[in-house]
Amino acid sequence: MTTSRVFSGIQPTGDPHIGNFLGAIQNYVRMQDGHDAVYCIVDLHAITVPKDPEELRANTLRLAQLLMASGLDPERCTLFVQSHVPEHAQLGWLMEGTVSFGELSRMTQFKEKGDRSEFVSAGLFTYPALQAADILLYDTNFVPVGDDQRQHLELSRDAAQRFNSRYGETFVVPEHVIPPVAARVMDLQRPDDKMSKSAAAENGLVMMLEDLKSIEKKFKRAVTDSDGEVRWDPENKAGVSNLLSILGAVTDQDPKNLAEQYTQYGALKVDTAEAVIAKLGPIQQRFAELQADPAETSRLLRLGAEKAREVATVVYERARTNIGFLQP
Ligand code: AMP
Ligand code: TRP
Repeated sequence: MTTSRVFSGIQPTGDPHIGNFLGAIQNYVRMQDGHDAVYCIVDLHAITVPKDPEELRANTLRLAQLLMASGLDPERCTLFVQSHVPEHAQLGWLMEGTVSFGELSRMTQFKEKGDRSEFVSAGLFTYPALQAADILLYDTNFVPVGDDQRQHLELSRDAAQRFNSRYGETFVVPEHVIPPVAARVMDLQRPDDKMSKSAAAENGLVMMLEDLKSIEKKFKRAVTDSDGEVRWDPENKAGVSNLLSILGAVTDQDPKNLAEQYTQYGALKVDTAEAVIAKLGPIQQRFAELQADPAETSRLLRLGAEKAREVATVVYERARTNIGFLQP
């Protein structure tokens, strides 16, 4: 039996928050076992919004260290930086010829980001074509992501199928893996909005590397509602349900069962804060240790890129041949 391949990507755009951790990173760690797992820090995607070069470099290294501190083990998975494997950009161009203007225009992430930005780059628009390339380049079977990536994954599947029907069997059609709990962690102050780096109020956002005391405060101040009943009901009780799903995701329990164990919001907030802190504390410690040796992180990333290229070059060659490029 051949092991299935897992691939996912994460942008080096500042430190991740607990939504990134629970919706994505925690599952990257779990899926290292039993799969051939490939994880990519997508710096090519990050530059679709202009970035300060020194900041991008620093953020890329920090994210690699934070992913390793969270449990990604370079011995058990392939962890690398997208720009170190040139086939991503190359296959990205082939994908731009595969997905349509209409499809890209319907992407909600583009619409949201585009509306918010003064300068809307062409890359921000074609971003999902590059994402499809990332995934298809590794004959990927499963893609662990948070709920907000559903639409991009659907487009990647359509791109694979369209390319295969135009040029013959080339790509594996991937499936997304969205966690049953905490696939969409909400803002602690505005529980109707997704937790995101562009949060309106700082108190709504909990970063993975945040001071643990500050995390505790934010959970204690989390917005709930006035009816006083702890119940799992994401539609009508967004704040309480968000706390239940965070606690559930961190402790590996069903939020509906957890709801039955609480009668008071206060106790739920305290326990959720404690569970998050118990999870993040050791990660923060390992992160600090890894930060002491940036050269070692860079070395591991170079090895990761070499491993990734062993697959990427083969799949790119297949695509190149099938599309009709003349052999150099
Ligand atoms: P990004 O930082 O945009 O590259 O996102 C990295 C991963 O985190 C993606 O798989 C997203 O789907 C996931 N993610 C981002 N925000 C959230 C959130 N609020 N809840 C759950 N998952 C999220
Ligand atoms: N678009 C993803 C995000 O914003 C990041 C990403 C890029 C990705 N390439 C990918 C995710 C490939 C999964 C697979 O979170």
